[in-house]
Amino acid sequence: MSQIYWYQDRWLPADEVRISPEDRGYYFGDGVYEVFRVYGGKLFEADAHFARLEKSAAGIRIRLPHSTEVLKRRMEELVRRNGLQEGTVYLQITRGEAPRSHLFPRDADPVAMAYCTETKRPIAAMQTGYKAITAEDVRWLHCDYKTLNLLANVLAKQEAADRGADDAVLHRGGTVTESSASNVMIVKDGSLITHPANHLILHGITRAVVLRLAARAEIPTEERSFSVHELLAADEVLLTGTTIEVMPVIEVDGRTVGTGVPGPVTRRLQQEFERVIHA
Ligand code: PDD
Repeated sequence: MSQIYWYQDRWLPADEVRISPEDRGYYFGDGVYEVFRVYGGKLFEADAHFARLEKSAAGIRIRLPHSTEVLKRRMEELVRRNGLQEGTVYLQITRGEAPRSHLFPRDADPVAMAYCTETKRPIAAMQTGYKAITAEDVRWLHCDYKTLNLLANVLAKQEAADRGADDAVLHRGGTVTESSASNVMIVKDGSLITHPANHLILHGITRAVVLRLAARAEIPTEERSFSVHELLAADEVLLTGTTIEVMPVIEVDGRTVGTGVPGPVTRRLQQEFERVIHA
C-alpha cells in the first residue's frame, strides 16, 4: 500500500506530492518541524509537541496554517490512514513559496506537509548503549526553536559516524549543551543533571518526560549546565529523544563511561519510560 502524505491539507500518495523549487524551506531552511512518536497507534505527548511547534513558528514569525487542534486531528488521521501502530510522524511547515529573496514574501502562504514511517524502537542499542564523540556546538543562539536549519547538527552527526561513533555531544566552549538530535544527561553521585531549558538547547519532550519520571522515582535532578570535564567523569551518560527514547552512552571520545555498561539510573529510567509508553 502506498504511503499517504498530508500535503496542503490534502491526502496524497507519496508519488503525487510535488514540492515547489521556490519553497523557502528549500532555499533557506525557512521552516519549522516536529517529530512525533506513535505507540499503539497513538501520538505520544502530542500536546507538548504542538505547544513547541507553536513556539517555534512564533519564534521565526511563521503563521501556522491551522490551529493546533486541527493539526492534531490531521496527524491522528494521518496515522489512521496509514494504519501505523508503531513509528514516527514528521510534520513540517515552511514560510511558503516565493522567488528567492531574503525578505519575507508579502503574500505567500505557509506550506504544510506530513508523513509517517514505521521507525522501529532502537531496542538493541538501548541495551548496549551508544558511543559518542564531543564536538563544538557551532549553531545559532535559538536552539530552542525546532527549525529546518540543521546543517550544524548534520555535520556533527556525520563527524560522529566518520569516527566510528553513534552521536556527537555538543559543547559551547566546554559547556555541554545537547547532542546532534537529542538531549544529554549525566548521572553523578546519584543525581541526574541536564542543561537548563533555555535558548541553547531544544526543550526536548522526552527530556521533560524523563525529568518527571526521575522526580517520581525520587532520583534527584538538577537542571544546570555542566562541562565536558564533568561529562567525561560522569558515572552515567544518557541521551533522550523521540526516536532514541532513553539511550545509554557507554563511551565518550574513546573513554569508557562508568563501568562501560548502561548504569542503574539509566536502566531505571528506561523501565519507567517503558511503563509510560505502554500505559
Ligand atoms: N530530534 N535536541 C535536538 C537538537 C533534537 O533535534 C531533538 C529531537 C531533541 C530531543 O527532543 P524530543 O525529545 O522532543 O524529540 C533534542 C528529532 C527527533 C529529529 O530531529 O529527528
